Amino acid sequence: MDLEEDIRSLQLDSAEDINGVVNPEDEKPDVDNFDKIEDEDPKQEVQAQSVEAEPKAKDKEIPPVQDEEDEHMKKRHLNVVFIGHVDAGKSTTGGQILFLSGQVDDRTIQKYEKEAKDKSRESWYMAYIMDTNEEERVKGKTVEVGRAHFETDTTRFTILDAPGHKSYVPNMISGASQADIGVLVISARKGEFETGYERGGQTREHVQLAKTLGVTKLLVVVNKMDDPTVNWSKERYDEIESKMVPFLKQSGYNVKKDVSFLPISGLMGLNIKTRLDKSHCSWWDGPCLFESLDSIEVPMGDPQSPFRMPIIDKFKDMGTVVMGKVESGTIKDGDSLLIMPNKDHVKVVAIYIDEKRVNIAGPGENLRVRLSGIEEEDLLSGFVLSSAANPISTVTEFVAQLQILELLDNAIFTAGYKAVLHVHSVVEECEIVELLEQIDPKTRKPIKKKVLFVKNGAIVLCRVQVNNVICVEKFSDFPQLGRFTLRTEGKTVAVGKITAI
Ligand code: GTP
Ligand code: MG
Repeated sequence: MDLEEDIRSLQLDSAEDINGVVNPEDEKPDVDNFDKIEDEDPKQEVQAQSVEAEPKAKDKEIPPVQDEEDEHMKKRHLNVVFIGHVDAGKSTTGGQILFLSGQVDDRTIQKYEKEAKDKSRESWYMAYIMDTNEEERVKGKTVEVGRAHFETDTTRFTILDAPGHKSYVPNMISGASQADIGVLVISARKGEFETGYERGGQTREHVQLAKTLGVTKLLVVVNKMDDPTVNWSKERYDEIESKMVPFLKQSGYNVKKDVSFLPISGLMGLNIKTRLDKSHCSWWDGPCLFESLDSIEVPMGDPQSPFRMPIIDKFKDMGTVVMGKVESGTIKDGDSLLIMPNKDHVKVVAIYIDEKRVNIAGPGENLRVRLSGIEEEDLLSGFVLSSAANPISTVTEFVAQLQILELLDNAIFTAGYKAVLHVHSVVEECEIVELLEQIDPKTRKPIKKKVLFVKNGAIVLCRVQVNNVICVEKFSDFPQLGRFTLRTEGKTVAVGKITAI
């Protein structure tokens, strides 16, 4: 954890933004092509927990499995990450969803209204449902990825509310790497869409990261439609959509199949749970946010494949509890598993989804798992709870196909290049030790000439080394455990996939 903290604090000293509006056609490599190669009612307070949440009082005893039938197995579960530029309204929209789904009562809202007012942040009260810590409330900015749950008729959702501020991109990466789908929140307010969309704005960076991190479907919500500078203007909505489409395509999204747009007001709660009333907006007759979320089809992982759950966080609570998302396979009460890379043998004592104890859980579930056989001190985030018969691979070196996005000051990329590697919940310093071959982005074929260095936009096969043993897989075997990003000085410089270990 310490190293991770260090790395994160290094990244907080990120280089300043490069401003200037950018023509979406003129830069940034096409990630698509890259992909082709391959009152305190305590209940209310629990709604949004940060990923690093402390154990709740109710964990203190191990309740029996309430649900013998494991009801949860009948309704699909999706992780939705809320992404987008700072102040776009991610936390407000997330909070509103919880309010509209009946999880936060009026009294709590009134309390937040007062608290927000006392902090001179009147309009932030809805965001306080998701932004639970003092720093977040004082500054009006999400820092840690907030977590909350809600259900529709067909789906159980976990909301992961990412921070938009550029200093916290590593936290956003961690949130997005657990997500199945993304809600990209864009502010329609005059000037705000523009700032988020500029080079260096997080609308861009988040979209590219989300795609690289395996968020295959995006719902783009054009928010703040109620703002006086917008007033539900169709022209403004169309302008934003028309500017976003080419950029989303360029980032690798198939806009027709994988992306949909809708106008909302997170603050007013409009077009979220129910469709828009004509009195608010005469031109929109499309779905509301809940409907859109419900109808998204996402292929789920294979419940039969070997079990893998990267550990995001851990704490002591009547034994050791680990948190994470099941990337593949199935976990059952009483299972004997391994914690990799250290090969510690552990036994599953209890499995929790939200606050509920269950017998069994499959791919895509966000879990807390109580284990025996290991001390909390012996775990680090980035370790992986694995099938004992078929554990995850461990490496200090691997071969990867990298796409160089944008190097700092247009530097060149050679052997010896050092960066911070983010792969599932691992954050680790790495070095490129050898460039093996360059790949022609157009033909997808290797270029025969020996490669000593490459520049922005290049695709290159290289050997990557890390100082500590890490758990990864080949992209072709477990995409989610084999795709990564490289960052230097707080900027994403390359994305990659592991081709050989
Ligand atoms: P970060 O976590 O810092 O990235 O910001 P965020 O995207 O979570 O934004 P947040 O929800 O904190 O909202 C930022 C500001 O925008 C607050 O003042 C909100 O009240 C305001 N806001 C959010 N949604 C709406 C909306 O639909 N309409 C209007 N008028 N204001 C909104
Ligand atoms: Mg926020």
